[in-house]
Amino acid sequence: MHTVRVKSEHEYDVVIGCDWKTQVLQAINSHARVAFVYPGVMRDKVKQMAASDCEMHFFEIPEGESAKSTQTLQSLWNWLGAAGFTRSDLIIGIGGGTTTDLAGFAAASWLRGINWIAVPTTVAGMVDAAIGGKTGINSDYGKNLIGAFHSPQKVLIDPSWLTTLTDRDFAAGLAEVIKCGFIADENILNSIDGKDVKAIRQDATLTLDLITRSVAVKAHVVSGDFKESFDREILNYGHTLGHAIEIDSKYSLRHGEAISIGLVFAAELAGVKGYLKRELIQRHRQILEGVGLPITYSPEAWQKLMPLLALDKKSRGHQMRFVGISDIGKTLRIEDANESELTAAYERISS
Ligand SMILES: NC(=O)c1ccc[n+]([C@@H]2O[C@H](COP(=O)([O-])OP(=O)(O)OC[C@H]3O[C@@H](n4cnc5c(N)ncnc54)[C@H](O)[C@@H]3O)[C@@H](O)[C@H]2O)c1
Ligand SMILES: [Zn+2]
Repeated sequence: MHTVRVKSEHEYDVVIGCDWKTQVLQAINSHARVAFVYPGVMRDKVKQMAASDCEMHFFEIPEGESAKSTQTLQSLWNWLGAAGFTRSDLIIGIGGGTTTDLAGFAAASWLRGINWIAVPTTVAGMVDAAIGGKTGINSDYGKNLIGAFHSPQKVLIDPSWLTTLTDRDFAAGLAEVIKCGFIADENILNSIDGKDVKAIRQDATLTLDLITRSVAVKAHVVSGDFKESFDREILNYGHTLGHAIEIDSKYSLRHGEAISIGLVFAAELAGVKGYLKRELIQRHRQILEGVGLPITYSPEAWQKLMPLLALDKKSRGHQMRFVGISDIGKTLRIEDANESELTAAYERISS
């Protein structure tokens, strides 16, 4: 078991490699009521929770993004009200990033903020969504438009959850792990190099090491900068084009799959600008493709993606800006890319 400390509005531990039930039982002791919030696929495991002196309530939410809706949140609020949840009670979100985003936001908003614990069950949830204090839901106008910063009391990472994930979802989560490798920790890249997703997930020690390293990267970045600035923006490596691709694909691609393509694009753009050597650009392709992630997108899509990139710029109120790297662990801002440079980078990833 390994613990990573995160500093935010309060300090909390990410406990990696634990048995979630043992940890949850310890944590709920001091509370009168606890609400477990989880999608239906988790039901059997969540209901295995041993009895405790604490009053346990169970709230099932829909699978995936539809959990992050005003409707689900409203029924959760009503349910908390009916169960008499007070300031000293606790919410525990058990599921992927959609669950912890919703559970965290319910905790942020109920009685102006009650305590919560995140039990992420996907790779993406473990290395990314559950850490950093961002919680929220979607609006009709876009993803994650409604939300709050509200860090959990603890994040409990039990890798045994991962056995039921599909290879596709496991690999999608690895995109964020690989991103952490390029922006901050070459060991991640060295240990993934040459391995496919099956080889990685069969190796429990390796999986745990990759999760621990990625959590350390995210925890370090968000501890330095709990809210938003360029330091935190380095976590967006690959995300500018990645988000546009996610929208263009109408969310048929997993977030991590779109980010994988976005990472190769960001590397190519840094190459076009003369910051990044060709062999490191190739290393992006080799590692991402090696775990089964997509690294190209359709040439015709560029005309639709360009306006989405411009929209991103407008909504942030500054120049179009990309996170780039000049070497492994050396991030930089690319703010001056012109249309022909962007197009040149895109041509290299389109097929
Ligand atoms: N708050 C943040 O900082 C942050 C960061 C990154 C992503 N996110 C959010 O996270 C969400 C994506 O999270 P995700 O990729 O974990 O997707 P997800 O939560 O939708 O989970 C994917 C699917 O897998 C199922 N599932 C979860 N765990 C499983 C398991 N162990 N075995 C089998 N099935 C399982 C889920 O029920 C769901 O159907 C997005 O909404 C994104 O906006 C938030
Ligand atoms: Zn991401």
